[in-house]
Amino acid sequence: MKSISPVTLLLLAPSVVMALLDPKIKAKGKMYFGSCADPNTLADENLQTILKTELASRESFNFINADQLVDFATRNGKLVRGHTSICNFQLPSWVSDIADAVTLTTKGKIYAWDVVNEIFNEDGSFRRSVFYNLLGENFVDTAFRDARDADPSAKLYINDYGLDGPDTGLDVAITELDIRIAKPITSALLTSQHNDYSTIIEACLNITKCVGITTWGVSDKDSWVDHTFPGYNSPLLWDDNLAPEAAYTGVDTVLN
Ligand SMILES: *[C@@H]1O[C@H](CO)[C@@H](O)[C@H](O)[C@H]1NC(C)=O
Repeated sequence: MKSISPVTLLLLAPSVVMALLDPKIKAKGKMYFGSCADPNTLADENLQTILKTELASRESFNFINADQLVDFATRNGKLVRGHTSICNFQLPSWVSDIADAVTLTTKGKIYAWDVVNEIFNEDGSFRRSVFYNLLGENFVDTAFRDARDADPSAKLYINDYGLDGPDTGLDVAITELDIRIAKPITSALLTSQHNDYSTIIEACLNITKCVGITTWGVSDKDSWVDHTFPGYNSPLLWDDNLAPEAAYTGVDTVLN
């Protein structure tokens, strides 16, 4: 899922309609509990029901589907959060993405943009990318200025991992959460995963500047883990049959 789509868009449920995790985290002062999904996920009625009722939903679409997404969001009373993975792109397609972003933002549907994606190495130095090689560190400034020009009011984010720290003073959003388990899956491993999910939710609740959480998928059957880490499974809150798992209970318990 991560590398297929030029853009993922996060839909935020603004109102409480049968929803569970999302309104519970809102009651704790956060903005959303969401999940990503791809167009296939949206085509699955049962998954769509979970997205509409349990979660704020984060949809992966390329810009060919952007208007379709905005229509879906409008019909379901949701806000949209955009995620642009510029490091996976050629520059021209990124520029055209921004042009599309203008179209989207004029509809007033974008809550926030992830402007740059995974630009740092684990040690904090810049990853060597076409952007960095050609433009140096300034590519980040350029990306943020262009995003701000395209959308004067959206929140602009750096999306990255392994750089966690609560004291930056900036808003933090947990954007691609999953916890994979090495096969064979045992109840001890599920319990440990339950505890790890609980810790993450609790950590976000503890940090005032943590605005929300999105998991990287709804059910295990659609997770990228299946394709990317064949020795692992069960990374998400719902299993292959869309039954809530121990991880779901972990999240729910903390939110209660
Ligand atoms: C959250 O805060 C509580 C109260 O200060 C603390 O006991 C707990 O360890 C914190 N949890 C995390 C994951 O930071």
